[in-house]
Amino acid sequence: MIRPVHGGNLAWAAALAGCPASAILDFSASISPLGPPKSALDAIKARSSSLTAYPDPDYGELRAALGEAFNVDPDWVLPGNGSAELLTWAAWDLSKLEATYLVTPAFGDYSRALSAFGAQVLDCPLDLTSCTVVKNGQDARSTRVKNGQDARSTRDEFSWGTGILPVPQEIEHGATSGFELKSLDAGAGNGLVTDDLSVSNRSFVSPSLCLPVPLALGADRRGLLLNNPHNPTGLLFAREAVEPYLEQLALVVVDEAFMDFLPPQQQQSSIAAVEKFPNLVILRSLTKFYSLPGLRMGCAIAHPDILRRWQLQRDPWPVNALAEAAAAAVVRDTVFERQTWDWLPGARRELFEGLADLPGLQPWTGAANFLLVESSLSVAAIQKSLLEKYRILIRDCLSFPELGDRFFRVAVRSRADNLQLIAGLKEVISQLAVDS
Ligand SMILES: Cc1ncc(COP(=O)(O)O)c(C=O)c1O
Repeated sequence: MIRPVHGGNLAWAAALAGCPASAILDFSASISPLGPPKSALDAIKARSSSLTAYPDPDYGELRAALGEAFNVDPDWVLPGNGSAELLTWAAWDLSKLEATYLVTPAFGDYSRALSAFGAQVLDCPLDLTSCTVVKNGQDARSTRVKNGQDARSTRDEFSWGTGILPVPQEIEHGATSGFELKSLDAGAGNGLVTDDLSVSNRSFVSPSLCLPVPLALGADRRGLLLNNPHNPTGLLFAREAVEPYLEQLALVVVDEAFMDFLPPQQQQSSIAAVEKFPNLVILRSLTKFYSLPGLRMGCAIAHPDILRRWQLQRDPWPVNALAEAAAAAVVRDTVFERQTWDWLPGARRELFEGLADLPGLQPWTGAANFLLVESSLSVAAIQKSLLEKYRILIRDCLSFPELGDRFFRVAVRSRADNLQLIAGLKEVISQLAVDS
């Protein structure tokens, strides 16, 4: 069986491990181990007796529940068949613009959606050599120390450092009048416009930082597609870092699929800005936090004019009745929400520490329920060995050209699972080190 292009694929992993897919311990999909919540299962059970009826095409009750959860008027919310459906509509709007800035490495589905409509894409690479979360004025990279006090002090209890959005340098310098898309694929370090407080010089980025934005050269005909927190790095951008783009660009789409894993006081959601900026679309997923990727639930939060237009164009019932009932129930489940916020920081810290203690591995601090890990050994070799020996699947990063074979991503799972991963990795790494 051929290695999947987009990372996690249980059928491929099961074939390699010689076991059924259900026997794989899957760290490749970033799904919470705490769910699905009972509230979802109860709602599904209750609704299953009325499957003979179509869902409400207006999704009035669901929009009311989502509006309440996100603190917006229900007219500003559109439920979707996972956030992936709404990404497709957002990409359709982006494709009508002159170009879309895409912060890379980027979640693979962005390319699918943008290329479906022939959108022109300008890659904006994060400077991976310096663009990491910082804590208390310190650069996390320099504090990703193995087996030592320093690493412990930075682990997970940092006040979330904030990133800066990279934009192609040519924009500010006015060199792209007849812009050449390919030429903007700048490599790490030379494609970023930054100021004194940028991540490029590794200093702390103030939340009130004014980012460099494309002022001239038709910025108002361009869009931005951004992921916050960022998958796969786990980096969290300050909402203030996004705002200048709202002032300048024709359309800004912020995918906040993992924002709900942060407790409210740490979230950097841009939802509050939708009323002020009719060119802002927020995408939210309900599938990761509530462990329901098979049900397909998500929503867009944006100006009603945008959402009404999408609603008129799309299939009338993209959210099925069971997903509709479950979504309305889970967003009101404050007990489950609290459980997750209480669980994640400690579990992520423990996983981080376990990974940091292994030779050749450097986990990155991250804001979401997954960790990106840098490896001095080939990840393809580690992944294969983990599957064959322990039936454990990690997410290789081969689908992110900027990361390649020296990075992998793992979800934060239950304590027992995380310990199994660490034990498996320990064995596999020492064996690979002996073989090489
Ligand atoms: C960054 C990001 N956005 C969106 C999605 C899609 O989420 P959904 O299940 O809501 O379609 C994913 C799924 O992996 C993701 O990683």
